[in-house]
Amino acid sequence: MNRRLGILLSGRGSNFQAIADSIDAGRLNAAIGCVISNRPEAPGLAIAQQRKLHAVSIPSRGLDRESYDRLLLEELRKHDIGLVCLAGYMRLLSSAFIRAYPLRILNIHPSLLPAFPGLDAQHQALVHGVKFTGCTVHFVDEDLDSGPIIQQAVVPVEDDDTVETLSARVLKEEHRIYSEAIGTVLEGRYRIEGRRVLNNRARMTKI
Ligand code: GAR
Repeated sequence: MNRRLGILLSGRGSNFQAIADSIDAGRLNAAIGCVISNRPEAPGLAIAQQRKLHAVSIPSRGLDRESYDRLLLEELRKHDIGLVCLAGYMRLLSSAFIRAYPLRILNIHPSLLPAFPGLDAQHQALVHGVKFTGCTVHFVDEDLDSGPIIQQAVVPVEDDDTVETLSARVLKEEHRIYSEAIGTVLEGRYRIEGRRVLNNRARMTKI
């Protein structure tokens, strides 16, 4: 499979940095082909520029979702991207975009899906009173935070947690599992049965 990653982000970019660090350290055999932000002021974009990666902002103001996503696709194709990684990308993708990269768009979400999809997942977990939460890497399908789950990590919720302390504990695991899940997909070390993404070390999935 084409190992060129296209990173989409909207903010801080710590998951993007963790992926870039894994590649630099030789833990992940991939290359970052481009980093795109819908927000010009996203700190992640500046970090990508400092790392001498191809980083562009494509502002979404005034564009409907389909027109915006066409611009995104154009940029990704220009850079021959094989796998799209959403890393704190806070926009919904159009059906046309998702169909353009079947099983080639991954997302990281800061909860154990299907619990607490959408915004402020760590806040939702605290308010609900769960004793464990975590993070999920999944394939992106046409519904919100709903595609087949590739990898999850569990994190305990402590009595004195705030959104900030809990988010920090979850984030540490996000940084670990996102690179691992990208590796699983790039190596084809999985097969899909229904919604289940199963480990497939023996038989390589043809992608
Ligand atoms: C991460 O916690 C990520 O899981 C979350 O946004 C944060 C981005 O941080 N994504 C979502 O909530 C998507 N539904 P980062 O910019 O430092 O990677």
